[in-house]
Amino acid sequence: MSPAYRIEPLDERGLPLVVRPGEGGDASVASLVAWLRERPEWVAEKQTAHGALLFRGFDVRDGEDFEAVARAIDPELGKEYLGTSPRDAITASGYVFSASELPPYFPIPQHCEMSFTASPPRRVFFCALRPNDGEGGETPLCDFRKVWRDLDPAVRERFEQGGLRIVRNYSGPSGGGRFDLWQLKRWDEMFLTTDKAAVETKCRDQGFEVQWGAKDRLCLISTQPVHRDHPRTGERVWHNHTQVFHLSAAPGEYRRIAALRPTWRNRLLAKVAAAMVAVQRRLRASEQQAMHCTYVDGREISDADMEHVRDVIWRHLVITPWQRGDVLAIDNHSVAHGRLPYQGPRQVAVAWA
Ligand SMILES: [Fe+2]
Repeated sequence: MSPAYRIEPLDERGLPLVVRPGEGGDASVASLVAWLRERPEWVAEKQTAHGALLFRGFDVRDGEDFEAVARAIDPELGKEYLGTSPRDAITASGYVFSASELPPYFPIPQHCEMSFTASPPRRVFFCALRPNDGEGGETPLCDFRKVWRDLDPAVRERFEQGGLRIVRNYSGPSGGGRFDLWQLKRWDEMFLTTDKAAVETKCRDQGFEVQWGAKDRLCLISTQPVHRDHPRTGERVWHNHTQVFHLSAAPGEYRRIAALRPTWRNRLLAKVAAAMVAVQRRLRASEQQAMHCTYVDGREISDADMEHVRDVIWRHLVITPWQRGDVLAIDNHSVAHGRLPYQGPRQVAVAWA
């Protein structure tokens, strides 16, 4: 017999739908896995409707438990990661990673996973193996269908007509490293190889243009759509990485975080980020920035438009503290995720399909 689970949205916004063991019920991973395998269509339908499912109160203790739950929802997990966060594999299978090895004070703006690639993942899974103590460290969610709907039509039109061009500059095996404040990781860390031909093949698959520079530097140029339509419902979704790649990203995020949590630390970080980006803009052209995006023809996207995008995103942000063992299954076609800064030890794992 199926165990009785309690299923209800976290709050009136409907995101995420929370599944918990019933009172005194079976909290085992084995039962949850069997239950999920019995109802793939129900899972897909609820995940689309709510944007994410949160499994809370189950006995999920390690990366292997997390992988079992993720595989019960989607057996085809991926391991190719071409994003900006440094990540380490944490299970022997190689399909579960630390969500981000970026320093804790780095905010991660909202994004649908790898939306800048030719075929982004369908689903993203997170698991709170060890939530940090105290405030911060949440993985906020945002329904990007609502963002598309609520953007000023004039801003939407400018993006649609302009299209998006992303430029990323990386140093190679000989230079720089993890936690360089601007580049976050080297190209050999991203592609997991030092073989330039292999890098070029991977880039071709993803539609990235490759330019090798002096001292092993790699410049990746790509275009990406502004929106995508949801494959199940046809709803239009703001589905791009501008809020991560645009130069205004760090100061724009830090300022909002400082308004949400006005500690001296957050206010200082907001000021430092604004000053550092102002210097970068004076020192380097768009093409030389570690990460930046413009319209396809190279014209700059205005900071005012990016501020508007961030305003709409933050209006729809769902911020929920992690509980140990939480597993979040996100519909990557419609819902974005990010990370708020934190302090102290924290381990959140990620997988995708
Ligand atoms: Fe991500």
